[in-house]
Amino acid sequence: MKGIEKLKKDFPILKRKINGKNLVYLDSAATSQKPVQVIKAIKDYYENSNANVSRSVHKLGEEATEAYENARKTVAGLINANSEKEIVFVRNATEGINLVAYSYLLPLAPSGGKIISTVMEHHSNIVPWQFINSHGMDLEFADITKNFGINLKKLNGMVSKGTKLVTTTHASNVLGTINEVDKISKIAHDNGSLFLVDAAQSVPHMPVDVQKLDCDFLAFSGHKMLGPTGIGVLYAKEEHLESMKPFMYGGDMIKTVTLENTNFNDIPWKFEAGTPNVAGAVGLNAAVNYLKKIGLDKIRKHEIVLTKHALNEFSKLDNVSTYGPQDENKKGCVISFNVKGVHPHDVASLLDREGIATRSGHACAQPLMKRLGVKAVARASGYIYNDKGDIDSLIDGINKVKKTFGV
Ligand SMILES: Cc1ncc(COP(=O)(O)O)c(C=O)c1O
Repeated sequence: MKGIEKLKKDFPILKRKINGKNLVYLDSAATSQKPVQVIKAIKDYYENSNANVSRSVHKLGEEATEAYENARKTVAGLINANSEKEIVFVRNATEGINLVAYSYLLPLAPSGGKIISTVMEHHSNIVPWQFINSHGMDLEFADITKNFGINLKKLNGMVSKGTKLVTTTHASNVLGTINEVDKISKIAHDNGSLFLVDAAQSVPHMPVDVQKLDCDFLAFSGHKMLGPTGIGVLYAKEEHLESMKPFMYGGDMIKTVTLENTNFNDIPWKFEAGTPNVAGAVGLNAAVNYLKKIGLDKIRKHEIVLTKHALNEFSKLDNVSTYGPQDENKKGCVISFNVKGVHPHDVASLLDREGIATRSGHACAQPLMKRLGVKAVARASGYIYNDKGDIDSLIDGINKVKKTFGV
């Protein structure tokens, strides 16, 4: 991986001063920063090729369509999908998961069956299933172990022949835990269930191969992987997309329309009603190319080094609790923590005074907070542009918080 100092220069925002201090951005699990290569690709698209896709025969229309479909190819290559037909562009991971809820599970819900999710999920992998539950399908949640992984033994006991979907996050946005999704996939498939992976926190940070994982669905967001907001991906096996009904109806998702009837378009366009986020796809294409140029395996190695350093430094802090595996090989670069007696919002506000951006609150995982026995956490999350110096700044900042509160 090229030197972090050099790489940081690709990210204009990292030059900013916050409260008079150099910005230390440790909130990439919420959203990542964007390199000039992505910003420029979007600007170039609007300046030179902007048009609607799949409808105009003029040159610009052709260019826009090509750019949009090229992005699909790039994404398919990134996750080793069998074909770009298996890549549906959506707004974000949340919309990808909702697409599965509406198009795959909702029609099955009245005849019963069961969905199994886990207690470590982001709300976006819980609330859509509660909606399906309200239409007649059972919903259960697998618990976590004392090592902050999913309890596979218990999960195995929960899955039965009536299970329609097993779903879990690949990497937790709170604990950092990287789940054994290959094993969970097997448990699901051995029981005739489909398997959905929430990959919002994994695809940006490590090699992900949908064929190796053997997942049926996998959802992620462009904005957490250097791309723009408003573009995300649902990967689904071709056979499922073929059999599923559309989630939204309108232009572009059709072949022919009469006043009485409509023939739907082929996959994946059947699921992309209306004018899509072409500029978003262009930006995502540039983001994936940027990540691929570095290499996802190198990014993962970099984050392991960063996480090891962070875990080591946090372990030296008195009265600071962390949540998640203590082994850098088992987690992403996400450290959720609490300073004894100090509200996480106060921690994050004081860190902000030092120019350090972290998240605080329930991190969109209220059931997990309850399971951990806390109301909220502060969370620092790293990415390709962070180095050990950023972690050291964070630790200095936490020491200042402790001093301020006399902890
Ligand atoms: C694990 C996980 N899943 C899903 C999401 C939802 O992502 P988005 O808000 O981009 O849809 C997030 C966002 O933080 C996440 O961390």
